[in-house]
Amino acid sequence: MAKKIYGIIGDPIEHSLSPAMHNAAFDAIGLDAVYLAFRVPQHEVGDAIKGAKSLGILGLNVTIPLKEKALAFVATEEVATKIGAINTIEFCSGTPVGYNTDGLGSLKVLKETVGNINGKTVLILGAGGAAKAIAYYLDTAGATVTIANRTKERATLLVSNLRNANAISLAAAELKDSIKDSDILINTTSVSMHPNEDATLVTADLMHPELVVFDIVYNPMETKLLREAKKAGVKRIIDGVMMLVYQGAASFKIWTNREPPIGVMEKAVRAALSRDF
Ligand code: ATR
Repeated sequence: MAKKIYGIIGDPIEHSLSPAMHNAAFDAIGLDAVYLAFRVPQHEVGDAIKGAKSLGILGLNVTIPLKEKALAFVATEEVATKIGAINTIEFCSGTPVGYNTDGLGSLKVLKETVGNINGKTVLILGAGGAAKAIAYYLDTAGATVTIANRTKERATLLVSNLRNANAISLAAAELKDSIKDSDILINTTSVSMHPNEDATLVTADLMHPELVVFDIVYNPMETKLLREAKKAGVKRIIDGVMMLVYQGAASFKIWTNREPPIGVMEKAVRAALSRDF
């Protein structure tokens, strides 16, 4: 039987750790499969998805900046439709079907650190595809969510689909007020992602020690935001590794219907991070 092919589309894509993570998982369960990274510019996302189907590719992850654009070229399951963004496509049934496992991954990570999310106040930086997924899951879990975004209209649009949320800009005064009252701060923007390691939207002076600070960026593992959190005496800091692992594990389950080897996936990500960054 031919080797099964899976992959990830995005732009840029060369620093993605998903190939290392999924290939290690395929090896661990003895599946004759390979996972490849494809750089796809925004205007070609539809052609890429159609082409993948024709080539017999069985599953794709979708990353920055394609998570919302890709939605138009797949049938979506219910949660992904509500979120308005996808990070996973499976082609097994003929029609490409889009899923979103980002929110699930982030909720699992947060629950491991914070416990119950119900009643927590959360500030999310960013209003893109990842923010939409995380905000949807937190809102559904009973958190009060604030979205802070450079383009405020995008934040306003996002919160209009949530139960209990509001939108602010990135102005320092607004951020300061919001963080003062927050239990959890989450960065979903690409600010501070390699190669802009010294950029951050929030600095130590705006944080308090009881805040939980979570950066979904994993390259570098310790972002400038997390370094600022340490400076502010923040005790609970979460990097992006386990969210990458959990969202990837959920995609793996959708594609293969096999139990994902989470430990193997985490090990592969940490090994690749210590090599590349
Ligand atoms: P994804 O789908 O992975 O979330 P995205 O849709 O491209 O990616 O969203 C990226 C997010 O990072 C957006 O919230 C974006 O802000 P805008 O909506 O104003 O574009 C935010 N972002 C990216 N670069 C930024 C920067 N230099 N300063 C502030 N926000 C930035």
